[in-house]
Amino acid sequence: MSTAIITGITGQDGSYLAELLLKKGYQVVGVARRSSTVNNERIKHILDDITVVQGDLQDQGSLLSLLEEYKPSEVYNLAAQSFVPTSWNQPALTGDVTALGVTRLLEAIRFVNPKIRFYQASSSEMFGKVLEVPQREETPFYPRSPYGVAKVYGHWITVNYRESFDMFATSGILFNHESPRRGLEFVTRKISDTVACIKLGRAKELRLGNLEAQRDWGFAGDYVQAMWLMLQQDHPDNYVIGTGETHAVREFCEIAFSHVDLDYKKYVVQDEKFYRPAEVDLLISDPTKARTALKWEPAVSFKELVTMMVDSDLARHNKE
Ligand code: NAP
Ligand code: GDD
Repeated sequence: MSTAIITGITGQDGSYLAELLLKKGYQVVGVARRSSTVNNERIKHILDDITVVQGDLQDQGSLLSLLEEYKPSEVYNLAAQSFVPTSWNQPALTGDVTALGVTRLLEAIRFVNPKIRFYQASSSEMFGKVLEVPQREETPFYPRSPYGVAKVYGHWITVNYRESFDMFATSGILFNHESPRRGLEFVTRKISDTVACIKLGRAKELRLGNLEAQRDWGFAGDYVQAMWLMLQQDHPDNYVIGTGETHAVREFCEIAFSHVDLDYKKYVVQDEKFYRPAEVDLLISDPTKARTALKWEPAVSFKELVTMMVDSDLARHNKE
């Protein structure tokens, strides 16, 4: 039985990846940082099937010990300070976790067993003020937030360890992917959750920032398949993962509200508070390499994603 270690097991992607690897017969070890309250909401249904261990990307020793103890063949580094607005308020922490944390994990792998296959969760935020449309593996980076800058470092240190030490270090440059498990502060989940509250009479309005920003949004469950496929290839590489479609935040609102027979124009209020000091206006992927080399295709369409998220939040609020 192969063992896989997932950092960021308590996050959106960690939970979907753990489910996928369990189905494939892996022993799954998830790394979670210590907190005063347990944060297992997204993985509570699989807690009996996985091992959760304490570790932190800010602590080199914890990473070394868990590699020594569990002897994984694959490590997926999904942990990060991943919320873009927070990266302006806590830029040094974001750099320490999201950038230097990658080096700490790569160093631990190099010392314990350089044959371990490594996946780094890189981001389309690295393209930022885009220098090419659509964005592919060779598109130069122009990050627009401390988070984006940290992810560029994480990407290049992954490439550097591949080239310096011949390690199987792969970087997946993933465009936005969402799900009913998305954190409530990200725009898609903020919309789906508030739409459900408005429909049930528990909220009156939805306050948002830039409605014209465009993202290439896919379903997280599809994207974790791509992560796994990347580590099954003969050689480490960089891959862009996205749908190849882009939609504005406004369009997401339109579909989400109309799904419950409401008109978004009556409820959405634009609020300066949610604008960013520097914005990424347009993201759209060219996923040709993923389609040809990995034979990966997203299964869930944009409209299916929006309605799935609204339905899930409606069901949750109804239950409560
Ligand atoms: P997420 O829901 O925010 O999960 C992030 C995870 O990282 C959480 O489990 C969090 O733990 C953990 N974490 C934070 N700081 C840590 C630390 N110092 N040590 C150990 N763990 C720490 O993010 P996600 O959406 O699943 O994304 C997964 C990864 O893909 C992230 O690296 C993200 O930057 C990247 N990415 C995401 C997208 C996307 O659209 N979702 C696109 C491209 C790249 P707590 O639960 O304790 O906070
Ligand atoms: N969060 C948020 N809240 N975003 C808003 C709001 C709001 O009220 N109103 C408009 N937006 C716009 C933001 O300005 C941004 O252009 C877009 O909605 C998407 O914002 P987020 O959902 O916060 O995601 P993100 O694109 O900044 O970052 C996510 O995707 C990256 C991949 O491109 C995160 O998951 C990152 O970790 C990930 O790397």
